[in-house]
Amino acid sequence: MNISILGCGWLGLPLAKKLVEEGHVVKGSTTSREKMTQLTSEGILPYLLKLHTEGIQGDITAFLSDADVLIIDIPPGLRGDPDANFIGKIGRLQDYIKKSGVANVLFISSTSVYEDSLEIPVYTENDPANGISESAKQLRSAEELLRNSESFSASIVRFGGLFGPGRNPVNYLSGRKNIKDPKAPVNLIHLEDCIGIIIEIINKKAWGEIFNAASPEHPSKEEHYTSKARENNLPLPEFDQGHASKGKTIRSVNLKEKLDYSFRQVL
Ligand SMILES: NC(=O)c1ccc[n+]([C@@H]2O[C@H](COP(=O)([O-])OP(=O)(O)OC[C@H]3O[C@@H](n4cnc5c(N)ncnc54)[C@H](OP(=O)(O)O)[C@@H]3O)[C@@H](O)[C@H]2O)c1
Repeated sequence: MNISILGCGWLGLPLAKKLVEEGHVVKGSTTSREKMTQLTSEGILPYLLKLHTEGIQGDITAFLSDADVLIIDIPPGLRGDPDANFIGKIGRLQDYIKKSGVANVLFISSTSVYEDSLEIPVYTENDPANGISESAKQLRSAEELLRNSESFSASIVRFGGLFGPGRNPVNYLSGRKNIKDPKAPVNLIHLEDCIGIIIEIINKKAWGEIFNAASPEHPSKEEHYTSKARENNLPLPEFDQGHASKGKTIRSVNLKEKLDYSFRQVL
């Protein structure tokens, strides 16, 4: 297949490499000219592209032409820029997707579309996304915009917190004090499972679906990160025990029903 991956970052680059290994023709984008040689050396056809609210910089038409599948793999970017207008960027992109004739789109979203609360609710794909943070609202709108399009069929994967080579959340928490929500369950997913799930969606042509994707293990934040800090001989994180914890548990019915997917990595 011809697969275009918008955003060859921490997840997108190893995903692109795996798809090349499996024999697909893969176009990959980056915003950095220097990274293009790295993409080429991995057998990925590199494109320099940047989404703005006003339009798209780079040859988006060539990037989308002939693609059987487009994977959108860029974060909303509100942490670096609280005024970022992600929905505007996805709107511009959608105009080009419609013109290109791409039939299938996979949008990488996040479990942050579900709200944390004191009741620690369990959410599956059958529950409405109810997140009210700015980033949750923008992700929810982007999901809806893509799913409601009549020109192509979109699936959404809502990943929990990503971890894997070079990204271990305990490194940010180690030694910190007053960390909120110690009793909140963790909702994490390893890079290998992210890639495994995306490949199953493509292979099984599971279009028009929503997938929640977090490991089925949900120890509390306090248990998990204390044990990870011990394992790695790092200073222990310290938690705020003075306030009740808000959180959620992310489950999936569709990973089993539609993909028959079993997780490969433990936490
Ligand atoms: N981090 C988490 O725990 C988490 C949890 C759930 C879901 N997710 C989702 O997982 C996906 C992958 O995350 P990641 O950690 O791999 O992200 P990342 O490492 O920051 O990579 C993002 C990629 O998007 C490109 N990009 C950023 N802004 C862009 C723009 N305006 N226009 C075009 N390209 C742009 C970057 O370009 P460069 O190559 O130039 O950097 C990079 O290739 C995202 O969709 C994110 O929302 C993340």
